[in-house]
Amino acid sequence: MEKVVGTQCSICQTRYALDEVTYTCPQDGGVLDVVMDVEAIRAATIPEDIFTSPDQSMWRYLPLLPVNDPGHLGTPLRTVGWTPVYNPQRLAAELGMTHLWLKDESSNPSASFKDRASALLVARAAEIGAEVIVTASTGNAGAALAGMAAAAGTKAVIFAPKTAPPAKIAQLLVYGSEVILVDGIYDDAVALAVAAAEEYGWYCRNTGYNPFTAEGKKTAGFEIWEQVIIANKLDRPLNVFVSVGDGNIISGVHKGFKDLYALGWLAHMPHIFGVQSAGSAAIANAFKAGTEVIEPVSADTLADSISVDMPSDGLRALRAATQTGGAYVVVEDQAILSGIASLGKVGIFSEPAAATAFAGLRKALSDGLLSRDEPALVLLTGSGLKDVRAAMQAAGEAPVIAPSLQALKQYFSA
Ligand SMILES: Cc1ncc(COP(=O)(O)O)c(C=O)c1O
Ligand SMILES: [Zn+2]
Repeated sequence: MEKVVGTQCSICQTRYALDEVTYTCPQDGGVLDVVMDVEAIRAATIPEDIFTSPDQSMWRYLPLLPVNDPGHLGTPLRTVGWTPVYNPQRLAAELGMTHLWLKDESSNPSASFKDRASALLVARAAEIGAEVIVTASTGNAGAALAGMAAAAGTKAVIFAPKTAPPAKIAQLLVYGSEVILVDGIYDDAVALAVAAAEEYGWYCRNTGYNPFTAEGKKTAGFEIWEQVIIANKLDRPLNVFVSVGDGNIISGVHKGFKDLYALGWLAHMPHIFGVQSAGSAAIANAFKAGTEVIEPVSADTLADSISVDMPSDGLRALRAATQTGGAYVVVEDQAILSGIASLGKVGIFSEPAAATAFAGLRKALSDGLLSRDEPALVLLTGSGLKDVRAAMQAAGEAPVIAPSLQALKQYFSA
């Protein structure tokens, strides 16, 4: 592939050819970065080619992606990305901010950010002749893979913890993939997916294991660049808030900005802020301790999508903050629920893991990590419909009354 140089280990920096190593570094298990051929891309494409593209999906960035056109026009696979960016004045005023943007990923086909990685993985699988794709998932990555695989007619096998929210499990089943629920935590499902891939010769999409997931996720960085940085002619760094579990979304967004920066298309590298739940804060702990050694935690948070004992992409996720002048912020579950309620009041329905990023912005402002006149964007990674129980916790119960005006008056006067 002429757009790609190969891969490079995030730990020992060893370079590999694309067909030499499929997953992590054979020497130290480090996650591999896909290294793009910046010169070749620059020679073939200028930013205006992208700005004028009629393609309103992540595939508008095909010249910067390590796959060829996957086809499947007219299917959900081709509508992933180019998600809306909002500029909610009331919420900004409430926070005392002058420049606030929210990017809502719930409009993706399976209603979460994860469609970006899965669409790209399905394209990659076809290129290397893989017939079955397997993944472990807290729910969203699995639903995304199941949906994208269904769109392309590819087989998918999904391992998820049996405790995943029912809506996510329902999605997996409806998309027709082979769904196997694991009587264990997410980390157990991860290990089983790797073992099964080896045993049966399946292509493994696991987050923080397959180098191509971050390549799909980097398209969010591209969109933030085009929809916010370029569109608003920002002449200073944007502050980007991302919720973090395994750390692959934040690594992917960072990779997108790094690719643009290497191309010379991005003047100011955004400051990236990772947000974790206090009950699942392995990477934030390392950030606070000033070390790159990430210790596992015993995760316990209502934000199921970011409930991870040992993050699989922790090192790159940590560096997304340390290398950009960002930080890690930790928020309590109660602040996450308040975040769901605040976002709801400006018309956005987020699941707990998405609202976590917003709660992180609030925390960063109150802790003085970010001043209120600095521009900030919050990436809202998944729909509130994914976890209705948490939504009810955030919003409270509705009253039940007799169907009469008298009962209504009584209720209002109570
Ligand atoms: C909605 C949502 N937000 C955030 C995340 C965190 O992404 P990562 O595990 O790559 O850090 C996930 C991962 O499942 C997710 O589904
Ligand atoms: Zn290595």
